[in-house]
Amino acid sequence: METVSSDRAQESLSKASCLFVDQDVSSEYADYRHSYSEEVFQIISDYCRESIQDLNLAVDVGCGPGNSTVGFTKHFKQVIGVDISETQIALAPNNIPNCQFKVGSATNLDFLQAGSVDLVTSGLAFNIMPREKTLAEFDRVLRPGGTLAIFGYGGPAATDKTLNDIFKKAFVDDLPVLPKELAMVLGGYKDIEMPYPGWVRRDDIIVKFQTSANGILISYKIIDQWLARCSEQGETEGKYLAQLQKYLSDAFPESCKHPNRKDFELIYKICIVMGHKPKY
Ligand SMILES: C[S@@+](CC[C@H](N)C(=O)[O-])C[C@H]1O[C@@H](n2cnc3c(N)ncnc32)[C@H](O)[C@@H]1O
Repeated sequence: METVSSDRAQESLSKASCLFVDQDVSSEYADYRHSYSEEVFQIISDYCRESIQDLNLAVDVGCGPGNSTVGFTKHFKQVIGVDISETQIALAPNNIPNCQFKVGSATNLDFLQAGSVDLVTSGLAFNIMPREKTLAEFDRVLRPGGTLAIFGYGGPAATDKTLNDIFKKAFVDDLPVLPKELAMVLGGYKDIEMPYPGWVRRDDIIVKFQTSANGILISYKIIDQWLARCSEQGETEGKYLAQLQKYLSDAFPESCKHPNRKDFELIYKICIVMGHKPKY
């Protein structure tokens, strides 16, 4: 899998952020995106407690419909999800007493005072944010001893060998040169480092969940749209999605006749990179 960098990467960055503004994409994303396991929220919160005992405020930036946010409400007095996309925020839950959602940008969290946040997180979103400005803003709002945690997962695997081979074709062999932000996600965030000394990486967490043929296609649709928007060869939207659809209907005709039936068990490897802002 090749990657492109520099100017092309900057261009594809804004194109990638725009993907989530589309109303249909946002709804599909909210419907089919699986939640992270309890374990992920527990591990990050426990890591915070190593530095700060009384956990007050967590802010999840690039929160989408809140699937990377809500799990922190058990651990923090107050949780805020922030996303640049109004359509994503409109789909986030509004009935959790200690959780609120706001439209906002990672590079301008001006509703937060400097040094006021115990945890800043970003789930599967940091790769499409302007790196330096975002890190500077995260550092501004974090209190000394606060935690920055970036997490996400790579391409899927499956317990079924046939489906696993299809994933290898669709997510690795078929894809052309990738924008580096997309390669970063599919590679499981291996390249991300923290700006704080003593930071740690966890990539031993496995999440399994059941999904449908539609669920598989929706998660791939974002990749297909991203590649079409970045393409210099005039590749059309839907090209890679149609290929995956054909692989699935050839191998699993019954499951594709019932596209919302959760016939498939998927396996994702979660990666968490976290560090404490120095206290002094
Ligand atoms: C792949 S989704 C991740 C959603 C959720 N956190 C999850 O883990 O599934 C990426 C999200 O980042 C948001 N996003 C992209 N650039 C952003 C920025 N500069 N500031 C805030 N949110 C941003 C997008 O609107 C989108 O909702």
